[in-house]
Amino acid sequence: MRQAVLNNILTRRSIRKFQSAPIPRESLEKIVEAGLYAPSARNSQPWHLTVVSGQDRLARITAELKAAVSRMPDNPYKEVVGSAAYSVNYGAAPVFIIVSAAPDSSPVVVADCSLALGTMFLAAHALGIGSCWINQLGIACDEPGFRAFLTQLGVPAQNRIYGCGAFGFAEGDAPPAPARKEGRVTYVPE
Ligand SMILES: Cc1cc2nc3c(=O)[nH]c(=O)nc-3n(C[C@H](O)[C@H](O)[C@H](O)COP(=O)(O)O)c2cc1C
Repeated sequence: MRQAVLNNILTRRSIRKFQSAPIPRESLEKIVEAGLYAPSARNSQPWHLTVVSGQDRLARITAELKAAVSRMPDNPYKEVVGSAAYSVNYGAAPVFIIVSAAPDSSPVVVADCSLALGTMFLAAHALGIGSCWINQLGIACDEPGFRAFLTQLGVPAQNRIYGCGAFGFAEGDAPPAPARKEGRVTYVPE
């Protein structure tokens, strides 16, 4: 069992080719529950998870994001998001989870929300479901038109977006793990 947990950590990869098949509700709820059990500073649990399912809704998120980024003069993702190939779910993933929080809800809100998302990625992988962090919504979340759309979607009005994930069954094999960078660990002698 312990070995299985470690193996799950080592074999998770960011998936960018998805099947459009839906994720069974029971699996989705397990993934979300795992996210809610992530550690957080001072047990702040500052996150709110907006779980969006279905190709039409996800296509709408992509369309609203593209429109918002095109209205933002300094958005660094202009080229990426503006490209015809861009979508928040790699064109197929059936579920998109937005992790948001009030900026003052924890002293380290970015870390808290990142752990929630990372924990959901590992839980998904354990259930045979692929995932990928999608980063382009955070910078756009205070653009007025996009904010109005997010509010309609259920993202609390006072929250900023700290991370998002696309989830779905992988199409084909996962890519190999990128090589680990050298010199990133120092074991200090006792
Ligand atoms: C903070 C963060 C932002 C990321 N943003 C994106 C993104 O916008 N799109 C994407 O395809 N992958 C994104 N990734 C996934 C990374 O590219 C990926 O984790 C990295 O290349 C290592 O590959 P692996 O996850 O398969 O180990 C992001 C990962 C992190 C942690």
